[in-house]
Amino acid sequence: MRKKVTKAIFPVAGMGTRFLPATKSVPKEIMTLVDRPLVQYAIDEARAAGIKEFIFVTSRGKGALEDYFDHAPQLEQELRKKGKDELLEILKNTNMDSGEIAYIRQHRALGLGHAVWCARRLVHNEPFAVILPDDVIAAEKPCLQQMVEAYEETGGNMVAAMEVPPEKTNSYGILDVQEDMGAMVSVKGMVEKPDAGSSPSNLAVIGRYILSPNIFRNLNKLKSGAGGEIQLTDAIAQEIGKEDSGVYGYRFRGQRFDCGSKAGFLQATVAFGLARDDLKDDLGAYLDEVMAVRKAAE
Ligand code: UTP
Repeated sequence: MRKKVTKAIFPVAGMGTRFLPATKSVPKEIMTLVDRPLVQYAIDEARAAGIKEFIFVTSRGKGALEDYFDHAPQLEQELRKKGKDELLEILKNTNMDSGEIAYIRQHRALGLGHAVWCARRLVHNEPFAVILPDDVIAAEKPCLQQMVEAYEETGGNMVAAMEVPPEKTNSYGILDVQEDMGAMVSVKGMVEKPDAGSSPSNLAVIGRYILSPNIFRNLNKLKSGAGGEIQLTDAIAQEIGKEDSGVYGYRFRGQRFDCGSKAGFLQATVAFGLARDDLKDDLGAYLDEVMAVRKAAE
């Protein structure tokens, strides 16, 4: 019987330099898509996938993130008094139970692999998920839930994968595919940001993973060996071809927005706004107007 995936690591210790000056004082993960911070989308997705323990790897200046998950009794009382039941319900849904959420500090931004490694003592010997909250995925069935279901069949290590245009492969970890089984591929190699023209495929890894605890052992070795950033991709690649483990890519169904980039964040804002009943008419009309003006100016 395969161990269930009940823990997720959220590495949020990066500096978010692409959003300076905002990220000088606001953690990137607290920036709002419509009316919810990015991190709330990540938590909701994790819950839907059966995650029970939420481990945040944070850094200096991320206090607002911890405050966000605290209960807000005064605010709740005020809403109750004013009969704002709907808002009260929304607020309550953001509360985390005591002990459900843990924070670990990454003292230096040594890379995503290092951030995951920082959480090793909270995970022990069991499979775990990793979610990067700046990758937001709009999907009928939440992406991590799709992956957990697929993982129940395969075990090993699984990364979310999506096709990217050839000129974009040098921005991603790219899979070298052994066997393509449709939604799932088995992997014979992984390359971090390959040079244009040398990419083994156009199947890119994005910010959802289900990993075996072996990854911590691999990160241990990378940590003591390599200089510079410690890449999660390298630690996962070491599991390729292992008989009791292996690495799989999973082509999720859904649309991914790179909310770590300004263009991606704006696109997500429009897409999530248009998906909302209370906003779609106003926002849609405004976008039509903008497009008409653009067309006329051409
Ligand atoms: P990014 O590459 O997007 O880096 O990290 P960043 O610092 O967040 O943003 P920019 O590039 O400066 O604008 C991908 C994910 O890995 C985490 C980040 O918080 C983000 O969720 N990360 C990265 C860490 O937790 N620690 C690190 O040392 C590096």
